Amino acid sequence: MKAIVYTEYGGPEALHLAEVATPAPQARELLIRVSAASVNFGDLLARNFGNVSAGEFNMPAPLYFLARVAFGWSKPKQPILGSEFAGEVAAVGSDVTRFKPGDAVFGYRGPQMGAYAEALVMQEDGMVTHKPVNLTAAEAAVAPYGALTAMTLLRRVNLQAGQRVLVNGASGGIGSAAVQLAKQRGAHVTGVCGAPRLAYVQALGADQVIDYVREDFTQRNESYDLIIDVLGRSSFARCRRVLTPDGVYLPVSFKMKAVVQMVRTKMFGRQKVICAFSDEKPADLELLRAMIESGAFQSIVDRCFAMEDAAAAHRYAESGRKQGNIVITMT
Ligand SMILES: NC(=O)c1ccc[n+]([C@@H]2O[C@H](COP(=O)([O-])OP(=O)(O)OC[C@H]3O[C@@H](n4cnc5c(N)ncnc54)[C@H](OP(=O)(O)O)[C@@H]3O)[C@@H](O)[C@H]2O)c1
Repeated sequence: MKAIVYTEYGGPEALHLAEVATPAPQARELLIRVSAASVNFGDLLARNFGNVSAGEFNMPAPLYFLARVAFGWSKPKQPILGSEFAGEVAAVGSDVTRFKPGDAVFGYRGPQMGAYAEALVMQEDGMVTHKPVNLTAAEAAVAPYGALTAMTLLRRVNLQAGQRVLVNGASGGIGSAAVQLAKQRGAHVTGVCGAPRLAYVQALGADQVIDYVREDFTQRNESYDLIIDVLGRSSFARCRRVLTPDGVYLPVSFKMKAVVQMVRTKMFGRQKVICAFSDEKPADLELLRAMIESGAFQSIVDRCFAMEDAAAAHRYAESGRKQGNIVITMT
């Protein structure tokens, strides 16, 4: 089969097409013919990980070293990127009962990656399920990462209808999902993003939008019950004055300082910091499918690129021009 591989860390030009062995499913596994995979933050980071310093990494330094070892210190260990996919079941192992050849599926591989290929293998009880009937393969392929991350992080806070939520980084993979999920729960949502994407974030349901270049939201005369900062570009100290007395600051990307603040605010004071990691639960993928099919969650594709143009897809994703998600189509 064909796959987009990279054998050295680097820019988009590190990606190239190659012939690799097609995986074979074991008894409880599915062989999936991949139609579409996304280009998300994780793919861009992993492609260039060897050139990213601990300081540039958006998470605590100990995690940086663990991730560098897991991904490969000087060369990538997993040569095929791609954490989310949609496709069709091509074959099933002898003990598979939930799926049959021909089923349209979508799923999430997380840091295991491997979706930039014509085929991949998934455990029947892993992060794979039937594709939402109302989405194209491209739309389904870009849904899991942002939605599952936002869903699991929002579970860490007791968000009530009518509360005010601010999402800093509302136009990206996680932020666009957080806006939609917070609206679902009846919150009043303010989305912060770049000027070209203000209308996009409004269309996702945000009640108010702020251009981060023109305005510093921490200087507003408004307060929020929950501030979600996707890239961690603000800080708890700066956000305190615009948090309600019992407000929560939830940085999706965080350094050790925020972890220390989480421990301190757990013991003292009413305003809280919550740092958390996303979970990968098959039940959440089922929940996401149900939400999509009921119209409660939108999955938006900006552009699709053919497999041969994977480098162009990555270049576009890094250009700062994307509005929605980028897809690589395999077939
Ligand atoms: N906690 C966890 O378990 C977990 C899981 C996965 C990922 N993460 C973290 O999440 C981050 C990636 O999130 P993502 O995939 O949503 O990224 P993304 O798709 O690249 O989106 C980034 C967002 O940040 C906005 N942004 C850029 N510069 C900004 C600024 N100066 N101020 C405010 N917003 C700004 C962008 O707005 P415009 O594009 O409109 O300019 C966009 O909305 C990474 O740091 C990763 O480490 C955490």
